[in-house]
Amino acid sequence: MSGWLAVAGLGPGADALITPEVQAALAEATDVVGYIPYVARIAPRPGLTLHPSDNRVELDRARDALRMVAEGRRVVVVSSGDPGVFAMASAVFEALEPCPEWHGLDIRVLPGITAMLAAAAAAGAPLGHDFCAINLSDNLKPLDTVLRRVRLAAEADFAMAFYNPRSRARPEGFGRVLEVLRACCEPGRLMIFARAVSTPEQALRILPLSEVTEDMADMRTVVIVGSSRTRQVGRFTYTPRSA
Ligand SMILES: C[S@@+](CC[C@H](N)C(=O)[O-])C[C@H]1O[C@@H](n2cnc3c(N)ncnc32)[C@H](O)[C@@H]1O
Repeated sequence: MSGWLAVAGLGPGADALITPEVQAALAEATDVVGYIPYVARIAPRPGLTLHPSDNRVELDRARDALRMVAEGRRVVVVSSGDPGVFAMASAVFEALEPCPEWHGLDIRVLPGITAMLAAAAAAGAPLGHDFCAINLSDNLKPLDTVLRRVRLAAEADFAMAFYNPRSRARPEGFGRVLEVLRACCEPGRLMIFARAVSTPEQALRILPLSEVTEDMADMRTVVIVGSSRTRQVGRFTYTPRSA
């Protein structure tokens, strides 16, 4: 049987948010490759080999997966959320690029529910008009680039979703982002801190920029910044569809 690769998103946490297409790929797979906590979500079964690895080895992991596919195995590379959003799908194509002998392999990207959409749904509809997503991690780009993109998006009045907002390794960056927001947005600008969305630990906090503190974000949080038109109705936060 010839091998294939599915680069799949497991959604934000709840099994109910894994798509049937991803479940079917997992049921047919011989190997699952991915970051340790994501692979831990896959139930072991006979005939399935799990390959958990550390977060910092994305390109090695992608190469290993492609090698296994070339050997005829059926491999699922798992990401949380959607695999194309700050996740493994780009790493797979980056690993593929310099290896023409692998370009004809059977590779599919299977979408998943990304954290910002699950968080937005939990809050109401804060991304109901134009928005953008920004990865606040400065592992793969300079912090100045992050700050410039946040400033330009705020000036253009996009709602924004921030991934990887703050980690123990880089605690200061989020404070710098808040400084940019305070310079560009009014104090009442609504922000949503959505932590561990769709898991039993889900916590949602909605408050104006003036009351936000750095420690409200961690690596399990996606942060949504409303546009100037974002507002509350009852317990819901939404952005009208016109601006
Ligand atoms: C490396 S990115 C991966 C994003 C993932 N591919 C997606 O589409 O959601 C990890 C970041 O996603 C966000 N995230 C992932 N799952 C989340 C969840 N259940 N609740 C809140 N944020 C989450 C956090 O900002 C976290 O730091």
